[in-house]
Amino acid sequence: MEKLEKLYEGKAKKLYATDDPDVLWVEYMNQATAGNGAKKAQIEGKGSLNNHITTVIFNLLKARGVKSHFIKRLSDTDQLVRTMHMYPLEIIMRNTAAGSFAKRYGVKEGTGLKRPVLEFCVKSDELGDPFINNDGIIALNLASDKELDEISRQARAVNKALSDIFSSIAVQLVDFKIEEGRTPDGEILLADEITPDTCRLWDLKDASGKIEHLDKDLFRRDLGNIIPAYEEIYDRLKTLAHAEGVATE
Ligand code: TMP
Repeated sequence: MEKLEKLYEGKAKKLYATDDPDVLWVEYMNQATAGNGAKKAQIEGKGSLNNHITTVIFNLLKARGVKSHFIKRLSDTDQLVRTMHMYPLEIIMRNTAAGSFAKRYGVKEGTGLKRPVLEFCVKSDELGDPFINNDGIIALNLASDKELDEISRQARAVNKALSDIFSSIAVQLVDFKIEEGRTPDGEILLADEITPDTCRLWDLKDASGKIEHLDKDLFRRDLGNIIPAYEEIYDRLKTLAHAEGVATE
């Protein structure tokens, strides 16, 4: 597979064309950002860890019947994925109140939710990823009614499978963000990445009663170095993958 011209550069990844129009080449970068790019840093090792973590997660999800755009990991920082037409949406699932949800409704972080909450934001750096409801998505033609039903169904299926994965490694899946796209032949699929950059992950092995963050909140909130936390997540996921006979590449 040949890496051709750069198609897109985001905050954490670069996307390249390949000699196969159905396949894209993704390179994970060391850049970390928060607050819509207001805070920025280069963190050695982050790109490789996220590339490894998202690979194992996509493979563990596949073993649980959840398909994605992922094809294979090529190296420490690079992977191949299927070409997708992305919906301009950040799809957020919450199992426990935290972050902007806790702030918006004035509830304490860590408050349990009676059922998972599915939220959508429009993916737009310029607008600061504003919240949008289902009617807004359809009115603005960001997805059709039918597509939105399928995206929502998949988001709930991802939450079920991902909650199972993380509870198996003693991690609380507080909330997460995914993105979805459509293949050239119209199949709606989970895409982008699932990493500690895009999930809130709290350590259930910690008995101190304090929240032990194993995710990007360490960076967002200046709580410490993300690398040991991301390594811990990767080590536990790798152990689970080996136990289940699931590939790590
Ligand atoms: P929030 O509480 O800040 O709205 O974030 C909810 C979840 O979504 C959290 O796990 C972090 C993730 N997220 C992203 O991955 N990218 C984003 O741009 C935002 C706003 C949240």
